[in-house]
Amino acid sequence: MSEDFVRIFDTTLRDGEQSAGINLNCAEKLQIAHQLARLQVNVIEAGFPAASPGDFEAVRSIAEQISGPVIAGLARTRTEDLQACAEAVRPAARPRIHTFIATSDIHLQYKLKMTREKVLEEVKRAVAVARSLVPDVEFSAEDASRSDIDFLVEVFKIAIAEGATTINIPDTVGYAVSKEFGAFVREIITRVNAGPDVIWSVHCHNDLGLAVANSLEAVASGARQVECTVNGIGERAGNASLEEIVMALRTRKDRFGVETRLDTKRLYGASRLVSRLTGVQVPPNKAIVGGNAFAHEAGIHQHGVLCNKATYEIMTPEDVGAPGSQLVLGKHSGKHAFRKRLEDLGYNLTETQVGEAFSLFKELSDKKEMVTDGDLEALVVDDILAVVPSRRFVLKDFSVNLAGKGRATASVTLHDGTEERSDAATGNGPVNASYAAMMRIVGFKPELVSYKITAVSEKSDAVGEADIVLKTDKLVARGRGASTDVIEASIKAYVNAVNRLYQLAAAKGVTLHASNAA
Ligand code: KIV
Ligand code: ZN
Repeated sequence: MSEDFVRIFDTTLRDGEQSAGINLNCAEKLQIAHQLARLQVNVIEAGFPAASPGDFEAVRSIAEQISGPVIAGLARTRTEDLQACAEAVRPAARPRIHTFIATSDIHLQYKLKMTREKVLEEVKRAVAVARSLVPDVEFSAEDASRSDIDFLVEVFKIAIAEGATTINIPDTVGYAVSKEFGAFVREIITRVNAGPDVIWSVHCHNDLGLAVANSLEAVASGARQVECTVNGIGERAGNASLEEIVMALRTRKDRFGVETRLDTKRLYGASRLVSRLTGVQVPPNKAIVGGNAFAHEAGIHQHGVLCNKATYEIMTPEDVGAPGSQLVLGKHSGKHAFRKRLEDLGYNLTETQVGEAFSLFKELSDKKEMVTDGDLEALVVDDILAVVPSRRFVLKDFSVNLAGKGRATASVTLHDGTEERSDAATGNGPVNASYAAMMRIVGFKPELVSYKITAVSEKSDAVGEADIVLKTDKLVARGRGASTDVIEASIKAYVNAVNRLYQLAAAKGVTLHASNAA
């Protein structure tokens, strides 16, 4: 008989990574997976192994390196998908195949072009094949909330008969409203009557802003697994936000009577890590992890909080691991404090990486009075984690001369893995000139589709972080670079984006050459 608590199935690395503009490499996915394990999520959906060789590799690496949670991979009902998925999750101590097929008439008619009878056959075959490959199988009925409930009950009975032990009811298009969804889930659970060994799960999208509310209503109706993502990232308007579900169940245990088993003090670090690596910023008013989530501005509120925190705070920043102050490290800070801060921010670095990061931190603290969390994150992500094994170009040197009327000349030297290559070009301003010089060195002409520069901290000695997107005819990659000098930050971002394009090209079997313009 299963214990009564709510399992958190994290799909940041699958549904979250599927959102427009997000592209994580294997090293970044591993960083997030390590933090999810520290957070003690129950299941990590690490990716969709059949989608690409890159996805397969990432799921496999996570299965090999992360212990604690169940490691799941997503698979359609095709045998090749199921086999690729089993292969990828096999090294995990507790591997899971999560297989799915759509069940709504609109998906059957226009997308699958299948009859209901054919879908029933597919479910029966796929779950049986999956069960022959791994002992833990989850089945999802895509677009369940718009499916005929009688058909859905039939589908779920078959999946359970073939050995699925987790049954997921997705609100794929975020169409359901809370009371209706709660009643739907309750009716399915009652009619399927599977007994205590089957865990009922929900997976809600946020198109109407109801993903968290719908998931909570489903818990009240008997669901004991919730699928969600850190910061609520995901397809379109996103998925249910993990931190909101976890803290709602904890804060209102009086109402729900069940909780998750997560280490809530890791929520803030997980949120920052995912935001930094995906480039999806957390709005200041975001519940639980937003910059203002615990800020009391109005005088009357401040007075109340000073008298007794409970007047205006239903949970504390400490509960979710949010720091009291942002200014943490300076010139005299030691390696121990440095390592601890990185851990609190969600990073998992090797001793060598901590050593390299510490040297960069010392250089930075010579230039800056105080090194903030933002500075540290920029340093680790842009200078340490960006050094992936397949890195191709490394910035060696650059110089820029302004020629008046905004024109500039730049010369840049990059190491390409074998030798140093230098080139020069003129352009409208130093960034444009240095990008033109680098385009000559790298040998192809990506289009710069976005360029943003932000100060990671305050004051005039702030670290500037450049965040750019480069596009070729087939590929798109983001690149980031940080420095107290914004031109250097911009150049580093370009090198980082070019290296990511090479990495993506290798994963997708695409060649980058001179005609690869966007
Ligand atoms: O939204 C959805 O229905 C999904 C399924 C694959 C679970 O992501
Ligand atoms: Zn989804």
